[in-house]
Amino acid sequence: MTKRCDQSTVWAELQAHYAASGRGFDIRAAFEADAGRFGALSFEAPEVFADLSKNRIDAATLALLLELARDCGLEGRRDALLRGDPVNPTEGRAVLHTTLRAPAGSDSPFNAEVQASLDAMLAFAEGVRRGERGAITDVVHIGIGGSDLGPAMVVQALQAYGRRDLRLHFVSNVDGHDLAPVLAGLDARHTLFVIASKTFTTQETLANAQAARAWFLGQGGTDIARHFVATSSNTAAAAAFGIDTAFGFWDWVGGRYSLWSVIGLPIAIAVGAENFRALLAGAHAMDRHFATTPLERNLPVLLGLVDLWYRNFHGFSSRSVAPYHQGLRRLPAYLQQLEMESNGKGVDLDGQALPFGTSPVVWGEAGTNGQHAYFQMLHQGTDVIPVEFIAVKRPNHDATGELAAKLADQHQKLLANCLAQSQALMQGKTAAEALTEQAPTASATLDREVLARHRSFPGNRPSTTLVLDALTPRSLGALIALYEHRVFVTGALWGINSFDQWGVELGKALCNQLLPRLQTGDTKGLDGSTAGLLARLTVA
Ligand code: F6P
Repeated sequence: MTKRCDQSTVWAELQAHYAASGRGFDIRAAFEADAGRFGALSFEAPEVFADLSKNRIDAATLALLLELARDCGLEGRRDALLRGDPVNPTEGRAVLHTTLRAPAGSDSPFNAEVQASLDAMLAFAEGVRRGERGAITDVVHIGIGGSDLGPAMVVQALQAYGRRDLRLHFVSNVDGHDLAPVLAGLDARHTLFVIASKTFTTQETLANAQAARAWFLGQGGTDIARHFVATSSNTAAAAAFGIDTAFGFWDWVGGRYSLWSVIGLPIAIAVGAENFRALLAGAHAMDRHFATTPLERNLPVLLGLVDLWYRNFHGFSSRSVAPYHQGLRRLPAYLQQLEMESNGKGVDLDGQALPFGTSPVVWGEAGTNGQHAYFQMLHQGTDVIPVEFIAVKRPNHDATGELAAKLADQHQKLLANCLAQSQALMQGKTAAEALTEQAPTASATLDREVLARHRSFPGNRPSTTLVLDALTPRSLGALIALYEHRVFVTGALWGINSFDQWGVELGKALCNQLLPRLQTGDTKGLDGSTAGLLARLTVA
């Protein structure tokens, strides 16, 4: 039995709980009152440890949220997803990316074809690494959205597992300023292009692919078949483009869930088959955790429930992600698509308008860089924005000798910064405390009490810290799967379809109508603003 969260009687109980103790919840007081708070609110999942104790929750809040989840049939929704039921009704599809990381011999009906596809893709990747396609030094991956963000993020995160003599480049934007500088440094004889598009109809990808082909031929390249390969569920369109080698996949793999499929080819080329399999294994371990762990200790469920608590009861409309690992600097961009394209919906599965907020804005930057930019607003701004810190215990620097020692020291600084930020957000500083401190850089003429108010912090700002022992293919796989399932949890409770993306269609259609007008300058029938801008952009 499934129901939308606000149709559950527990919803009203949560509203009452919020009014009674949620709104005024003080994280600092909660720690003072309960010495065991960290132990009670930190959780282990495969490869990921999560500290939820610096959030505005307690045992009573979690108990009610878990009751809500059960009352809404979350476990049934999860099982339907994992079983391959058509949980994407607007496109009439199952959603089976979890099958892509299940080991050989698993009981999925698709297991045999998934394994065959994986083996073929990995064999090709290993062949490229061995030089079977000639001496390839550079791979240019052309795709956008889910056909770019996942592979690009993972290749960057696993740089330590890559080879210096095999460089990966990612081009996504239709803006030629993306492709041109990449091509400028390349030799066509040593370059392999991977054209990645689930549909093989995406304007940006096809334009970049055509431009890349023209460049290749212009450089004297002749063997398109050897230097171009496609990953797509529309292999016929890839063939029509002139690509002989195309790795296909299934319509039940959503774009933003596709890095586990042949769309992951650049990952496999960069880090090799064994590491790609480790990435899948890490994700599979998280899938099992999600499928079998009681909700009380089920990390994707708990994170999703806290997300819902913040979005629908506290009214927080944004979440910032701060990975304290430079390799994860594209993770916020990846998560933007995962969460906002999945859950940025305004109607439920029956098409009824939703009376509550859905996807928060997800944004962020690698630490410590963000600290010197927008963290000011997180600490003292008028909005409360929950922050998600990701800390990695052991670094994996490409360094030896004195440099290695220096970088090891820098890693301690990195971790200290990460801990300090969540501590500062929670702790805050009263004006009275600020008054007792020296502020050497402050104006000497300013009233001390006024200055103290400028230098005070409200505190009680929530954060979650995820900890990985090391950033490995396995832990990264687990981390990504954790986020996928968490997004599913909130989407399921909100009663929405997390697996379609109709909101991207209108802009695409209007773009197609405007494109010829940019050539002719014709503004007839356009609204005043669009007409004015088009004229401005087309006047000679
Ligand atoms: O425009 C949105 C979108 O459809 C995403 O969902 C998808 O990941 C991306 O475009 C790319 O699509 P394709 O892989 O078909 O080129």
